[in-house]
Amino acid sequence: MFMRFERMERLKSFEMPTVLKHGIGAVQYTGEEVKKLGVTKVLLVTDPGVRKAGLIHPVIESLEAAGISCVLYDKVEPNPSIHVVANGTELYLAEQCDGLVAVGGGSSMDTAKAIGVEVVHGEPVLNYEAAEGKKPLEKRIPPLTTIPTTAGTGSEVTQWAVITDPYRKFKFNTGGPLIAAHLTIIDPNLHTSMPAHITAATGIDALSHAIECYTCHYAQPMTDAVALLAIEYVAKYLRRAVANGKDIEARYGMAHAAMLAGLSYGSESAGAAHAMAQTLGGIIPVAHGQCVAAMLGPVMEYNWMGEPEKFARIAQAMGVNIHGMSLEEAAKAAVSAVYQLVKDVEIPTLEEQGVPAEMIPQLAVEAYKDPQTVGNPRDIDVKGYEWIYRRCFNLEPSTLEAATGKQPLGIG
Ligand SMILES: [Fe+2]
Repeated sequence: MFMRFERMERLKSFEMPTVLKHGIGAVQYTGEEVKKLGVTKVLLVTDPGVRKAGLIHPVIESLEAAGISCVLYDKVEPNPSIHVVANGTELYLAEQCDGLVAVGGGSSMDTAKAIGVEVVHGEPVLNYEAAEGKKPLEKRIPPLTTIPTTAGTGSEVTQWAVITDPYRKFKFNTGGPLIAAHLTIIDPNLHTSMPAHITAATGIDALSHAIECYTCHYAQPMTDAVALLAIEYVAKYLRRAVANGKDIEARYGMAHAAMLAGLSYGSESAGAAHAMAQTLGGIIPVAHGQCVAAMLGPVMEYNWMGEPEKFARIAQAMGVNIHGMSLEEAAKAAVSAVYQLVKDVEIPTLEEQGVPAEMIPQLAVEAYKDPQTVGNPRDIDVKGYEWIYRRCFNLEPSTLEAATGKQPLGIG
């Protein structure tokens, strides 16, 4: 169950640059907490949907009560592009802001992080892509406060921003401790108006962060600890949050699940599901949470034999009684439990999300090229990705039935 010996040879690190404040109604403390960061005028980064839902009102009220001026930038789109970032940077500089507040999901939080990168470096965020030949971040971004309105991405505490380059049809990462938020305020009251399908998709995205980071080659005890509790919370609370959006205990549990799963990233990356989702998202404008949620079961079905003990532990965290099971049965039970959860919360298939099966060969090649391929618990090549994609479209039979002796769970 411990890290494999060969993985202990490299220097591991874990940093948590973000102060965490949370509670039911915590958003009313935004102003005084942001003031402690020395900020006097913020660029409030959000999207039109969050603005229309009124979720920014208590934030603005609290900031203004603390004497902090607010400039609103509500132009964030799903899969935010370098242009959305550049326009935000221009507004930040023109208005002479000295801090950032992001209210929304991963797109708003990642946009705010990327604006921060451009503001302090005086160059496009594209120059700081986490890729060979590009520069690492050199300066800390201006004081950033993240206020998530979904429970999924974990961007409120991660050290990553994912931005789309429309010219290459490519989503790139930029990151490291210098990009992390200074403060996050987690308030489940902001989550109760989230529609069931968004709750479901973002919740399974959080689960996939936890499962991928728990099983990937970069795992370490610190990230294992937070990942396992995130898995337990998703198993316990996601169905409740989807079925009854006003269940504040379930919302609070899911908000923590997403944040803990975000911490399980550490400063590293995830695995095959995120390699696939990120490359697919650059080509077809699918919603990240929904598409990664449709891929998680097939990815686990491919991966379990790379880390069978850890998969057995995932089954336990998912609430499966593995007593009397062989290691293989317990590992496969984790995969079945995730398939069941994905089914219960009604995640649409990739086909239903508008992805054509004819694109599988191309999508598999792109996923293989993604840097997150390296961390995947089972060695994977283009053929492996093709198998996973074919499983997503139910073009391959389930491999789970032999272990459980029960009707296999899966796609369709
Ligand atoms: Fe994700």
